[in-house]
Amino acid sequence: MQFYTIEDFKDKLRGKKVFVRVDTNTTLENGEMPFTSRIEQAFETVNKLTSYGAAVVLGAHNGRGGETSFVSLGPLFSMLQKQNSQIPKLLCPGNTYDEQYLGLNAATKNTIKDLQSQQILVLENLRFLQNETAKMDTKEFAQQKFIVDLVESGIDYYVLDGFSVAHRAHMSIVGFSSIPNIAGLAVEKELLGAKKIKELLAQNQTGDGRVTFIFGGAKIQDYFQLMENALQNNSVSKILPGGLFSSLCLILGGYDLGKPSCVPLEKKDSKGKSTLDYKENLQKLLDKHRDAFVMPVDVAYLLNGERIEYLVDEIPQEAREKGAVLDIGEKTIQKYKEVLQNSNMAYWKGPLGAFDLNPLFAKGSQEILGLLRNNSNIFSVMGGGDTGQMLSKFDTLPSELSYVSLSGGALIQILAGNDLPGILALEKSFR
Ligand code: 3PG
Repeated sequence: MQFYTIEDFKDKLRGKKVFVRVDTNTTLENGEMPFTSRIEQAFETVNKLTSYGAAVVLGAHNGRGGETSFVSLGPLFSMLQKQNSQIPKLLCPGNTYDEQYLGLNAATKNTIKDLQSQQILVLENLRFLQNETAKMDTKEFAQQKFIVDLVESGIDYYVLDGFSVAHRAHMSIVGFSSIPNIAGLAVEKELLGAKKIKELLAQNQTGDGRVTFIFGGAKIQDYFQLMENALQNNSVSKILPGGLFSSLCLILGGYDLGKPSCVPLEKKDSKGKSTLDYKENLQKLLDKHRDAFVMPVDVAYLLNGERIEYLVDEIPQEAREKGAVLDIGEKTIQKYKEVLQNSNMAYWKGPLGAFDLNPLFAKGSQEILGLLRNNSNIFSVMGGGDTGQMLSKFDTLPSELSYVSLSGGALIQILAGNDLPGILALEKSFR
């Protein structure tokens, strides 16, 4: 994998104009954009570019049309301003686009033309543009008004810093084929982790590897397709179920967990999908790859305000009727630990218990995390939305695991063995 890095251009950046596509996408907290690790990482890349004398035009998106998080990037500008009091001039977004939202407005084009070394211009939410997410090939994107406006306003280089959005073949990711494409610091860092993942998945396929996936949380839809692909192409050896996924596995195994434990399985997401909708597909996977699934042997119920553990074939009527399964039990934890001790890679998505509802149900996640922390025998990988929350809940630093990605979807594509369009564009530019 070969691509340009910022270091390759460090002597060429003074006085040059760079469009940097970062990924600061986040859900809002109480209606506000929080300062996240993604934003911190994006600012590191911007600061590196300005430190080499470049003028930076910063592009990012937030949310998707129709979502509450589909908002202006004004708050991002304010955060950048706070961090960069030493920057000579930082220009506010306002609306940077033309009336049709096809390209830049005249004021923005003039600002870019006049942009001096170390100045930064923050563009509005890129997904406000009509064609940002259109289905076009790279050649068509390169002819879109937005790209042409930027290049004609004097942008010399394109930097892709948003690894977490590199799985999207969107205009601002793959459309800059007419100028050199350079990997930002986030992409560089994440590609190191991605490379190691690819090696370990390939080893598993040839029978030399021991890759384990740990899947929990409340949304099986986040990883179901990855699980199908990985089982199909033999890049995973064992799957450890937690969260709602483990409840669904047990129900399919013929265990009656009781009505209250089934209610969350019926909850629909924004696309109208629930965990229960995966029942038949999961059954097919279980039928075909039964040995890969390590089934929970006990579960922890919330019953009368307490955590009570039962073997799965000894759940009393009272627990079924009045309690709900919120974690895996101690025996299951030990079983999962044994599997992990025999693994050389573990990818983990979603907590094993509902510690967000009740701290008594942190045990499963806490113990498994304890085994992975600073464990040099297992390449431990985590990524996506709930990762940061889970790590800080258990006072774990990202550096205590082997690779904590800022990406959700992009990491899943890497794990599924797929190429990312943004990375392909970087490689093509290098060639
Ligand atoms: C992410 O948050 O995973 C990326 O920004 C991609 O966002 P998307 O799923 O809306 O394309």
